[in-house]
Amino acid sequence: MELIDGKKISKEIRQEIAAEVAQMIAAGQKRPHLVAVLVGHDGGSETYVANKIKACEECGFKSSLRRFETDITEAELLNVVAELNNDPDVDGFIVQLPLPKHISEEKVTEAIDPRKDVDGFHPQNVGRMTIGAPAFISATPQGIVDLIRRYNIPTAGKHAVVIGRSNIVGRPMSILLSQKGIDCTVTVCHSRTPNMKDICRQADIIVAAIGKPGFVTADMVKPGAVIIDVGTTRVTDPTAERGWRLKGDVDFANVAPLCSYITPVPGGVGPMTIVSLMKNTLLAGKKAIYKD
Ligand code: GUN
Repeated sequence: MELIDGKKISKEIRQEIAAEVAQMIAAGQKRPHLVAVLVGHDGGSETYVANKIKACEECGFKSSLRRFETDITEAELLNVVAELNNDPDVDGFIVQLPLPKHISEEKVTEAIDPRKDVDGFHPQNVGRMTIGAPAFISATPQGIVDLIRRYNIPTAGKHAVVIGRSNIVGRPMSILLSQKGIDCTVTVCHSRTPNMKDICRQADIIVAAIGKPGFVTADMVKPGAVIIDVGTTRVTDPTAERGWRLKGDVDFANVAPLCSYITPVPGGVGPMTIVSLMKNTLLAGKKAIYKD
């Protein structure tokens, strides 16, 4: 069993990005600028956004944080989005999800200029990704593809089972894995799938993205399978300094000895998600996806 080290790979990619930014600056080009919009005080969102801002610094990007209270109206937030769409100094921006219940995430996502949608959540980017056209691709699935590639894990003709069908992870993951160049045969499982155990046992690659800690157990895994764990649920842990720790969707202790490769939680997929956002920001700064 080999542990897939997302921390190490993400550091390598951050260094590659920083080198490219240094070249851009030396050539007199503009420093890529990412703006993060954060509404309210959700603990998880605060941490994610702080980590994104820190990663920007490491990559040599300019970054800005726009914070708003939970009572911001949908119209006010849509105005912020319009302002960022029209600001030529802003190359890309994200609106951190989840948003308060009185604001439609769909409306806000669709208001973002696809050219600046470095999250890859806008339907135009999702559509382009689906047909294999240049697009901003959702960070977590892109990060997983990069991990698989950098570890030279064979994918052609392999059976990949994706557990979860979210717009952010499961669904785009299933599309990317079936694309030319990756060439997996893909099955998507979700809450209404019967026989999940039997299906998973046929998998050469399992991507677990359902947000249920410890869901994938040893009896669901074929010996030699590749296991990618996207889960990051906070579970209480009195021995941890913060009183909680992150737990993945895979029963790591019992599954790890069975498989060929596995991502740990933390330190597997998580760091890759952030570096994929950095890759998208670099592409936005270079106007490399939408060229006109
Ligand atoms: N909330 C959880 N993951 C993400 C993400 O990748 N982007 C944004 N904007 N919000 C999130």
